Amino acid sequence: MPAIAIIGAQWGDEGKGKIVDLLAQQARVIVRFGGGDNAGHTVVNPRGQFKLHLIPSGIFSPSAICVIGNGVVVNPAMLIGEMDGLSQHGVDISRLLISDRAHLVMPYHILLDGLEEEARGAKALGTTRKGIGPAFADKAARLGIRAGDLLDQGVLLERLRHVLDHKNMLLTRVYGASPLSLDEIYAQYCRYGERLAPYIGEPLPVLEQALAKGELVLLEGAQGTLLDPDFGTYPYTTSSSSVAGGSCLGAGLSPTRLSGVLGVFKAYCTRVGGGPMPAEAKDETGELLRERGSEFGTTTGRPRRCGWFDAVASRLSTLVNGFTAAAITRLDVLDAFASLKICVGYRLNGKEIDSFPSNTFALERCQPIYEEMTGWQTPISHIRQYQQLPAEARRYISRLEEFISCPVKLISVGPAREQTITTGSIF
Ligand code: IMP
Repeated sequence: MPAIAIIGAQWGDEGKGKIVDLLAQQARVIVRFGGGDNAGHTVVNPRGQFKLHLIPSGIFSPSAICVIGNGVVVNPAMLIGEMDGLSQHGVDISRLLISDRAHLVMPYHILLDGLEEEARGAKALGTTRKGIGPAFADKAARLGIRAGDLLDQGVLLERLRHVLDHKNMLLTRVYGASPLSLDEIYAQYCRYGERLAPYIGEPLPVLEQALAKGELVLLEGAQGTLLDPDFGTYPYTTSSSSVAGGSCLGAGLSPTRLSGVLGVFKAYCTRVGGGPMPAEAKDETGELLRERGSEFGTTTGRPRRCGWFDAVASRLSTLVNGFTAAAITRLDVLDAFASLKICVGYRLNGKEIDSFPSNTFALERCQPIYEEMTGWQTPISHIRQYQQLPAEARRYISRLEEFISCPVKLISVGPAREQTITTGSIF
C-alpha cells in the first residue's frame, strides 16, 4: 500500500477532515504535517460530530497510529483539551504520537500574533491569532522550543530562559506590553510535559515499518495551497507549507515514498481572513453559499468569504501539487442554484489572463471572467452512485475535472461518511 498526501487545493476549509476520516479506515498511519491549531477539521461519523485542530482526523480509525508531525506547531493546552474531549467521547487516544521535533506554541507567540495584527492596522492579515506565525518565525530564527524539550526540564528551563529574555525585550520595548514570567511559563510547560511525555517520540520508524509492510500511510494537510507561504497569496498566507512538497518535509517522509497526491476541492470557493479572492461573490450568491454551506470558520467562527469555483486558482494548485486524484466536496450546497458559474479567467489591466498572478497587488485588481452552466436544482445528498447524479451535476464535475487535470475519485454530498460517491480507487 502506498503513501498518499491529502492536500487542500484552495484556501483551506475544503473538507479534508471528512476525507481523511473516511480513508483512515484503511490506513495504518496518519500524519498531520503542517499548521497548528489554526486549522479546524470537522468530522462527522457514527461517534458524533467533532472539531479537531491538532489531532489527525484519522484518530477515529481504531487501528491507525496518528502522528503529529515535525512540521506542526503544537499548543500544548489546546492539544490536551482536544485529547480530553476525545477521551470523554470514548475515543482511544493511546495511538497518538507527537514528533519530538514538532515546535511548541508558547504564550508569547499568541500575545505577539495579536500585537502584530493590531500594529498592521488596516493591513491586518486576519490571522487566527493562535500564535502560529510567530511560532514558525521562531523555528526559522532558531528560537523555537520543541516537544522533545518538554522531556527534560533542565533543557526546557535553559531554552526558555534564553528565548524569554529576547521575547520580553520585544514585548516591553517594541510593543509597550508587560513582560512574561519565566517561572510561570516554566511551571506551566513542565505540567504539560508531564502530561504529554507518554505521547512524545520519534515517528520515523513507525512510518518506515508501515511502508515496509505495505500498509497505507496518509499525510494529512492543513490549510490550503493558496494559503501556502510560497505559492499562496503572500503575504496573506499562513506560515507553514500546505502543498504536496511540504507534506514530505512536515511528516519526515522521503519524496520517493509518496505514491499519490489527493487534491481536495470544494465545489465552490471560500476564504477566511484578508487577502485577494478574485471570484468572491459579495452579493446574494455569496450569502446563499454561506448559508447553505454553514460557512463559518471552525477555529474562529468568522464568516467565510464565498464565491464560485475559481478554475484559474485551481490551475496553479494543480501545477504545484501534481494531483493524481481529486475529491470534490460540498456539491450538495449547489443544489439551490438555477445557474452555476465557474471563474475561467481574469481580466487584468484590460487584458484576459488565465494564470494566477504571483503578485498579490495585481491579483487584487483581477476581475473574474465567468462561464455559466445550468444547475440541477434538486437535492442530491441521498445519492451514492455517480450515475444517479442529475446530468447537470455530472456535467459540472466533468468540467471541473478538465480544469484540475486529474480524475475526480470522490464526491461528497453531505457531512457524514456515507454521504460520499466513489468513482474509483485512489490507491
Ligand atoms: P494564521 O495561520 O493564523 O497565521 O492565519 C493566516 C491566514 O490563514 C489567515 O487568513 C487565516 O484565516 C488563514 N487560515 C489559517 N488556518 C486556516 C484554516 O485552517 N482554514 C482556513 N484559513 C486558515
